[in-house]
Amino acid sequence: MSRPIDALLQEQRRYPPPAEFAARANVDDPDVYRQADEDFEGFWARWAEELAWFRKWDRVLEWHPPDARWFVGGRLNASVNCVDRHLATPRKNKAAIIWEGEPGETRVVTYQELARQVNRFANVLKALGVRKGDRVTLYLPMIPELPIAMLACARIGAVHSVVFGGFSPTALAQRIADSGSRVLVTCDEYYRRGERIPQKRRADEAVQMAGGIDKVVVVRRTGANVPMTPGRDLWWDELMASADPHCPPEPMDSEDMLFMMYTSGTTGKPKGIVHTTGGYLVGVHATTKWVFDLKEEDTYWCSADIGWITGHSYIVYGPLSNGATTVMYEGSPDWPDKDRLWSMVERYAVNIFYTAPTAIRQFMQWGEAYPRRHDLSSLRLLGSVGEPINPEAWVWYHRVIGGERCPIVDTWWQTETGMILITPLPGITVTKPGSATRPFPGVKAAVLDEQGQPVPPGGGGYLAILRPWPAMLRTIWGDHQRYVDTYWSRWNRQTYYPGDGAKWDEDGYFWVLGRVDDVMNVAGHRLSTMEIESALVEHPAVAEAAVIGATHSIKGQVPVAFVILKSGWEPSEALERELKEKVAQVISPIARPDRVVFTPDLPKTRSGKIMRRLLRDIVHGSALGDVTTLRNPEVAEHLRQAFETAA
Ligand code: WT7
Repeated sequence: MSRPIDALLQEQRRYPPPAEFAARANVDDPDVYRQADEDFEGFWARWAEELAWFRKWDRVLEWHPPDARWFVGGRLNASVNCVDRHLATPRKNKAAIIWEGEPGETRVVTYQELARQVNRFANVLKALGVRKGDRVTLYLPMIPELPIAMLACARIGAVHSVVFGGFSPTALAQRIADSGSRVLVTCDEYYRRGERIPQKRRADEAVQMAGGIDKVVVVRRTGANVPMTPGRDLWWDELMASADPHCPPEPMDSEDMLFMMYTSGTTGKPKGIVHTTGGYLVGVHATTKWVFDLKEEDTYWCSADIGWITGHSYIVYGPLSNGATTVMYEGSPDWPDKDRLWSMVERYAVNIFYTAPTAIRQFMQWGEAYPRRHDLSSLRLLGSVGEPINPEAWVWYHRVIGGERCPIVDTWWQTETGMILITPLPGITVTKPGSATRPFPGVKAAVLDEQGQPVPPGGGGYLAILRPWPAMLRTIWGDHQRYVDTYWSRWNRQTYYPGDGAKWDEDGYFWVLGRVDDVMNVAGHRLSTMEIESALVEHPAVAEAAVIGATHSIKGQVPVAFVILKSGWEPSEALERELKEKVAQVISPIARPDRVVFTPDLPKTRSGKIMRRLLRDIVHGSALGDVTTLRNPEVAEHLRQAFETAA
């Protein structure tokens, strides 16, 4: 953990906000930090005043660690804030969503049109028997029907659970079952790298596995002929055609659930992270406006998928609550060629662009020629999220994409935090490549040691958040104890433990290193080692498997699997391929191991826990740490040889 960060701390480059940018910035006074710190509840209450409420809150915060209630007694509706309230303003006919399909067709959805679609689908859901508090699973690609369905759920108080459209039927089934959804929204097919992905077929498989689904609403995306189960499956367009375009919004309590979003934990079972209405909306509204310096006339593009929290907060709720124009793209960045994103930036004159380090490293590898084909001069701000950004990638992004004139906001946050917590404010923060800089105003963070003491500047430890923030998760669906244990038990019940290693420097800047637990981050997607191991063990040949995240120049990390075969099976290239395929099928192609190393044994502690740290050392060619606590110390050297022979 110490090697990469030592290099980061030697990073001497400094990027002050360009004068031209600073002169027009939404935040131009560094005193915001002091003001917010003096009265953080007052700070968040001022932001809450920007939203539309049916009833104002009685108290900003009730904090019974680790349980927080924000804007207590307040009533509001997220769809009203993201749609209705813009209709009485000049935003009525402004583009809310500019969408581009992979084959190249476009759709512009104005706020007025969005309102009609959301209201209609809200009525469709009601007619299907969906009531306040019911969960609805959305298994859709990046098409406008996804945000429409999310906002329609929000309108009637249903809880959406968006499952990333690229997940396997097994992963979808698990999430449907855990959430107890009765309604699933999916589509016939969608386009990815020129291929048609059979989404409905995969959804059918999942519905069969999960049970409990009564109705499947199917969006026509490609117009393919897909099997429809009578009485269960219904076409989106047919339902919408007869739906009333007026649906009164449900006045939700601030603390009523808005959505749940599954994320990987250290055990195989994904955690349903629960977000509520008032605090979440205040948090994403504020951070969108200040971190991205959002202006009325901006075209804003976050290239994430809505199937991840980044898309929820910074494609849908944050931008729309600000009345912004948000761009959505269905397909792959290299289709039909590797300049697709830059072609879109040029054609839509995108001003703010937000993506992930894994994408930036991919763009670097493809080379400068692709962005150079296009006029990127509309860009004025760039963002990064998902994992630590290597300073070289940062500098490349700044130079090649940003033309050396755009500030970069490296934003640290999580599914659980709901909103950005550590980030530059682009008009006032001097940035350092590789550092997410400082906590957002009102947020308090630190780097702590095992005992909960702050480490000295330059030191490394655990990232910690020291006070509640409005968009924080409230619980894990169906498992409040796991919420308490996972996030609020490392030091005390008032200190949030994100599970990331970090250092801070003399200026109080944070340098986030990545996960300290057995969760890995592959191309910005969080995967648990356990989930992949479980998938491998499902194969008849596999007795035991251990997976670690190995450093990878493009994806950040990739899974490497160590596998013990059952007797009667022999290692072979064919079997290696089969196992990789197995993981891709059970979880997602994202989780496909980069390598599978066959071994007769695995290093284990006396309590029988696989020592993954040692496997990491072997893969990275580092000196093997202490092996004396192992039950089988001799296995380490064997493994190293096995790994090197396989390489
Ligand atoms: C984990 C959260 C938040 C949306 C994307 C991922 C890592 C995220 C940064 C950053 C260093 C980062 C952390 C965090 N991470 N942003 N700017 N610098 N690391 O959401 O799947 O919940 O993953 O992503 O390790 O804990 P997620």
